[in-house]
Formats: sequence, structure tokens, C-alpha cells
Amino acid sequence: MPPGWTLLTLLLAAPAHPMPHPAPPPRTRDRPAAQAGCVTCHPAIAREWSESLHHVAGSDEPYREAHAREPLPFCQACHVPEAPPRQTPSAWAEAVGVGCVTCHLTAGDAVLAIPGNHDPATPHRLRRDAAFAGPSACAACHEFAFPDARIVPRPDLMQSTVQEHAASWAADYACADCHMPWVDDGDARGHRSHRFAASRDPDLLARAVGVSARRLPGDLVELTLTPHAAGHAFPTGDLFRRLELRVQVIDDTNPRAPQRHNLGRSFATRPHGPVLARAQIADTRLHAEPVLVRFDLHDGPGPVAAICEDLSQSWVAWELRYQRVAFPDPRRQGGAVLDGEVIVAHGVLPGASE
Ligand code: HEC
Ligand code: HEC
Ligand code: HEC
Ligand code: HEC
Ligand code: HEC
Repeated sequence: MPPGWTLLTLLLAAPAHPMPHPAPPPRTRDRPAAQAGCVTCHPAIAREWSESLHHVAGSDEPYREAHAREPLPFCQACHVPEAPPRQTPSAWAEAVGVGCVTCHLTAGDAVLAIPGNHDPATPHRLRRDAAFAGPSACAACHEFAFPDARIVPRPDLMQSTVQEHAASWAADYACADCHMPWVDDGDARGHRSHRFAASRDPDLLARAVGVSARRLPGDLVELTLTPHAAGHAFPTGDLFRRLELRVQVIDDTNPRAPQRHNLGRSFATRPHGPVLARAQIADTRLHAEPVLVRFDLHDGPGPVAAICEDLSQSWVAWELRYQRVAFPDPRRQGGAVLDGEVIVAHGVLPGASE
């Protein structure tokens, strides 16, 4: 095949209306200058973006530490999308993270925007595309497989938010409908928030789930988690995100450790010929259906939880925590090193006779 053909094939294979995607960035315009322009002319949006995780995707501590443990060019493609993935990124690309240009300048010089019924006078050209108003605007970065493609034909997904969303009650809503709420910026029109708060937003997390708790005969405690406002699994995103339920007998004279139960995904390595590929072995997160978890108060840790002890009069405290796990700790069952956590719901159940 003559060299010209290769180029032609590449051009034909490239999508005609590219949506935001991981690196490599398009080779159009001076990207640092273009980014600086967006920030100057759209200050309210720029302020929100500067406080978002998108902006710190390549520079915040959780990512830097995880990338140091697993230093793959694959990671850099999404977390530092303005740098070629196999090169040491420029200080600018690392600091800008997922920038305005990453999502809005995906091909050529025209700024990607959703269809609108009036065209404002803009100092730049617009490329209006209906796909940008749907999950396609996020899909290339928010759903992807383990980098095992050379080992197995179809590697398991490391993040599966888009697929979870398509299977959820919220499939007809765009990611932006929930993650980019309209905000007032003083002018008549307002704009879509670019803050993208989620895993550090206690109110949003609390809206994702309803929790009810009750006591059952035989010193059992039953907790029911009902899915509410999340348009995908709860939690979604990073493979190590999980929920932790805690139940604890309240006993001031004889303090006890809580019992715990985790809901999340778990992974193992499986042999494929001579090498190991990663596989998902369980997914106990909250999807479309309520999840019911029972605790036997006599199973609690510590010598005090004697089998025949009467716990029916004891008060019981319960808690649901959302946890950002940095990495699982294989030395302990359910053990993990946490980047952070949020108490999403909690309550107390009185003893039987109260
Ligand atoms: C010289 C100032 C200027 C620069 C630089 C600039 N914009 Fe704009 N932009 C405007 C104005 C003015 C409008 C029209 C009014 C409005 O929608 O805010 C606009 C409109 C838009 C719209 C369309 C809103 C609609 O109608 O759907 C998008 C999206 C946008 N800009 C994004 C960007 C991005 C991304 C950059 C950087 C690549 C950028 N702009 C750079 C001034 C600027
Ligand atoms: C170029 C890749 C890319 C695109 C496109 C992209 N994201 Fe992200 N997004 C990321 C990365 C990387 C992070 C994690 C940053 C970090 O914390 O290190 C992230 C973080 C987020 C978070 C915060 C998650 C948390 O833990 O709180 C939300 C919410 C989010 N994105 C929603 C969206 C939505 C909605 C869209 C589409 C409109 C979108 N993203 C498009 C790469 C992308
Ligand atoms: C119906 C509203 C809704 C829709 C639609 C929706 N989300 Fe969410 N999203 C939430 C809520 C609520 C949370 C907080 C609870 C949680 O973490 O799941 C959240 C959390 C997240 C997080 C944080 C990760 C985590 O720990 O769970 C990411 C990333 C995210 N969403 C991305 C997306 C993407 C990408 C889409 C589209 C494919 C999308 N969301 C569609 C409501 C929605
Ligand atoms: C993670 C991807 C992403 C990043 C980063 C991003 N945008 Fe957007 N932006 C979008 C999407 C998606 C929409 C359209 C949302 C909708 O209405 O459906 C949008 C809409 C807009 C609009 C027009 C709609 C409005 O609300 O007025 C402007 C202007 C804009 N963005 C500017 C910027 C600027 C400036 C930056 C950087 C400071 C930026 N964007 C960063 C994804 C992004
Ligand atoms: C295809 C894009 C993509 C690739 C490749 C990717 N990530 Fe991410 N990463 C994301 C998105 C999107 C999120 C946001 C989801 C969430 O917050 O749960 C994220 C979140 C994270 C977080 C949580 C950040 C925080 O502050 O909460 C860490 C840590 C992380 N990624 C590390 C890595 C490492 C290490 C690699 C390589 C082994 C990698 N990522 C590869 C897209 C990607």
C-alpha cells in the first residue's frame, strides 16, 4: 500500500465529529494560548472548573500516588490528556489537567458546543453537535478496560459508568443533567456548572441512597439500601470505590468495635496462558434494586460478644460510609488504605422494650 493510503485510511477511520477523549490532544492551535483565552473570556465557568477534579486530574495527591505505584502511559492519557501519553508531560499539561480545550477543542479550531436555537455573537467559531449534549461527551474517559488487551481479547472494565448509566432508570438523562446543573451567574441566562462535584460532596452522596434500619428477633439488625438519585451504580467510577455499613452495640461500660460489611467491586488476576490478566469477580454495589444486609449482633468482634448474651435491650448504632479506597490491603479481609470517606447516613435503634 503506498504511504498516502495509510494516511487516507487513518483519516477515514477517525470519527467525523470527535467528542472529548483521552490523549493524544489534537495538533491544532496553540493549546496553552487557547486555554488561557477560554479562562479570560468565561470567568464564571473558569472559576468552577479551577475548583473541579478535572482541573487537578494530573496533579492531585490521590492520582500522583496511584500513578507512582503503577506508572503507566495509559493512566497519563486520561489524567494528563493535553500531553502525548508516552512523553514526560510539560508542566503546563500537568497543571491544566482536563482543560477547557480538552472538552471543547476536539478537532479543528471551532469550539464544540451543544445545539442552540440562537447563535450568540462569539469571537470564535462554534461546532454545534447533538452528541455533546449526551453521554458521548464523557464516555471516552469515563468507561474503559484494564490495559490487558494484548493478553485477553476483551479485558474487563476498570470503570463502567456509561454502561451502568445506560442500564439505569436515568438512561434518558444526560450525565450533564445531573453533573452540570444550571447556575445563575448574574446575567439573564445563567450557565451549566463546571464544578463536577461528586465524591467530595456529602449532599450529593446522601441523595444517592435511602437507608432504613430495623431490629429482627434473634438479635438481628437489618439494613435496606434503596437506590435514589444516582444515574448509575452507587458508587461508580474508580474501581476501588466502595460503601461500608457499620453496626455497633452501644455499651458505655464495655465499648465494642463495630461490625462491618462492604459493598463494592472485587478483582483478581486470572491466568491467560503464561500471563495474568485482571478480572472482576464480584460486584455488590447498589444498582437498580434495593440491597438488604443483615447483621447478627452476636457476630461482633471482641470477647464480649458472647453467644448467649442477651442483647435485646441494648441500643444499636448504624452507619453508612462512602469510601475512596487508595488500594486494598490484602493482609486483612476487607482491609483498605483510604484516601477519604464520607458518612452518608446514620441512626440509632433502641432496645426491644423501649
Ligand atoms: C475573546 C473572548 C472569548 C474567548 C477567547 C473564548 N470565548 Fe467562548 N464565547 C465568548 C462569547 C462572547 C460568547 C457568546 C456569549 C456566551 O455564550 O457567553 C462565547 C460562547 C461560547 C460557547 C457557546 C455558548 C452557546 O451558545 O452554546 C462556548 C461553548 C464557548 N464560548 C466556549 C469557549 C471555549 C472552550 C474557549 C476556549 C477555547 C472560548 N470559549 C474562548 C467569548 C470568548
Ligand atoms: C479527557 C477525559 C475526561 C472527560 C472527557 C470527562 N472526564 Fe470527568 N473526569 C476525568 C478524570 C481523569 C477525573 C478524575 C480526576 C481526579 O480526581 O484525578 C474525572 C472526574 C470527574 C468527576 C468527579 C468524580 C469524583 O470522584 O468526584 C465527575 C463527576 C466527572 N468527571 C464527570 C464528567 C462528566 C459528566 C463528563 C462529560 C460531560 C466528563 N466527566 C468528561 C476525565 C474526563
Ligand atoms: C440522575 C442523575 C445522574 C446521572 C444521569 C449521572 N450521574 Fe453520576 N452521580 C450522580 C450522583 C447522585 C452521584 C453521587 C453518588 C455516587 O457516587 O454514585 C454521582 C457520582 C458520579 C461520579 C463519582 C464517582 C463515585 O464515587 O460514584 C462520577 C465519576 C459520575 N457520577 C459520572 C457520571 C457519568 C460519566 C455519567 C453519564 C454516563 C453520570 N455520572 C450520570 C448522579 C447522576
Ligand atoms: C469535562 C468536559 C468539560 C470541560 C473540562 C469544560 N467544559 Fe464547558 N461544557 C462541557 C459540556 C458537556 C457542555 C454542554 C453542557 C450541556 O448544556 O449539555 C459545556 C458547556 C459550556 C459552555 C456553554 C454553555 C453554558 O453553560 O453557557 C461554555 C461557555 C463552556 N462550556 C465553557 C467552558 C470553559 C471556559 C471551560 C474551562 C474553564 C470549560 N467549558 C471546560 C464540557 C466541558
Ligand atoms: C480512560 C481514562 C482513564 C484512565 C486510562 C485512567 N483513569 Fe483514573 N480516573 C479516570 C476517571 C474518569 C476518574 C474519575 C472517577 C472517580 O472519581 O471515581 C478517575 C479517577 C482516578 C482516581 C481517583 C482520583 C480522586 O482524586 O478521587 C485515581 C487515584 C486514578 N484515577 C488513578 C489512575 C491510575 C493510577 C491509572 C493508570 C493505572 C488511571 N487512573 C487510568 C479516568 C482514567
